[in-house]
Amino acid sequence: MIHSHNVFNYPSPQHPARMEPYIIKLPRYLDTRGNLSFIEEDTHLPFKIRRVYWIYDVPGGEIRGGHAFRQTEELIVGLSGSFEVVLHNGYKEFRYLLNRSYYGIYVPKMIWRMLDNFSTNSLALIIASTEYFDADYIRDFEEFRELCTE
Ligand code: TYD
Repeated sequence: MIHSHNVFNYPSPQHPARMEPYIIKLPRYLDTRGNLSFIEEDTHLPFKIRRVYWIYDVPGGEIRGGHAFRQTEELIVGLSGSFEVVLHNGYKEFRYLLNRSYYGIYVPKMIWRMLDNFSTNSLALIIASTEYFDADYIRDFEEFRELCTE
């Protein structure tokens, strides 16, 4: 896994307006009593926190996501266990294995996402830049790709 302290957006070389996901490494305090990590909005996130949700008790073989957001930006953290995050920005795919609780994947808006290969007892924490609103979802991949070329 690539280590990165970069918390700023950078555009794709092929398309200056299109953002790419990237890894955010979170602080980690190692201690014989147990380890501690944290997230501070202004220090670690390129957006303001409006919502936090988590995905848990995922049965083996199930897939979460399968959509993109028009506006919402997110940070996905694998708090426990492991799972894979597959992202697509309309021309390029990005794959991440989240199996450490001090890594987050920053997902800009207009990125198709799928979460799969959840291990037993895995826990995905998602920090989002918007409150939940259904109109933000794009659930059809072809529609997503067409919107990406606009
Ligand atoms: P959904 O976004 O489809 O889950 P996934 O993360 O796998 O893509 O959400 C599942 C259901 O939960 C859906 O009916 C909407 C509801 N929901 C909320 O009410 N608030 C939220 O913040 C989220 C993420 C989902």
